[in-house]
Amino acid sequence: MQVFHTVAELRTALAGQAGTAFVPTMGNLHAGHVSLVELAKRHGQPVVASIFVNPLQFGAGEDFERYPRTLDADCEKLAAAGCDFVFAPGVAELYPVPQTFTAQPPDSLANDLCGAFRPGHFSGVATVVLKLFNLVQPRVAVFGRKDFQQLLVIRELVQQFNLPIEIVAGATLRDADGLALSSRNAYLGASERIQAPALQRELAAVAAAVQAGERDFEALCAAARRRLKMAGWRVDYVALRDAATLQAPSSASARLVVLGAAWLGSTRLIDNVDFSSPA
Ligand code: PAF
Repeated sequence: MQVFHTVAELRTALAGQAGTAFVPTMGNLHAGHVSLVELAKRHGQPVVASIFVNPLQFGAGEDFERYPRTLDADCEKLAAAGCDFVFAPGVAELYPVPQTFTAQPPDSLANDLCGAFRPGHFSGVATVVLKLFNLVQPRVAVFGRKDFQQLLVIRELVQQFNLPIEIVAGATLRDADGLALSSRNAYLGASERIQAPALQRELAAVAAAVQAGERDFEALCAAARRRLKMAGWRVDYVALRDAATLQAPSSASARLVVLGAAWLGSTRLIDNVDFSSPA
């Protein structure tokens, strides 16, 4: 496996490659990322992973500075997973001039759910992913379903800009108690870690109630929010949406998704459960 820190090295290594499979990451890799690399391997060759903590997608006061940078350990995991190339640029390499040209996702995706609580976040994600796509020029790119709204933003980016890239979604990996694997889990203290699977349990409870025929979606989500608050969480949102559009569910919705974001102390966790509409 080769590791590149510059755009020039990356372009030289990838020149003439038509079947590249790409896994963009911010590093601090866990088994969920490894599973995305393994999925990428089934879709193309060579497999390229990027490691870049993107300042554009962090708001003021968010965890950009404290986000764990663990390049050596990440490279060991990527090599073991069969990754061919790692692109790990510094901020000045990817943003040599201020990135005043940005990709702005549609309001309905950018300013809803996580976007409502993290203004500018999805523009930052779309902008860096568009840059990385231009550099890597993959045929396939793999994103995790845990970042469900991000996945839809990327699908919309690819569709609206006619990018010749197939987007493949990887399953969310979970610990035995249901907690979705996330780099941010490392921030949790011992008692928070015990509490953390409650988010997934509440989302799954909403999904189960809808599947069992309950139709008052807002009451279900409000009850989940209330229970989380009573257990000490600060809840950003729990919402039920159409899984294809993230709009409110309608009779035409084939799949639904319950999404949640909530804080345990200073750690913000997100998760989602998607399922076939019972309608
Ligand atoms: O999901 C992530 O880790 C990041 O948002 C991504 C897609 C690598 C863009 O920085």
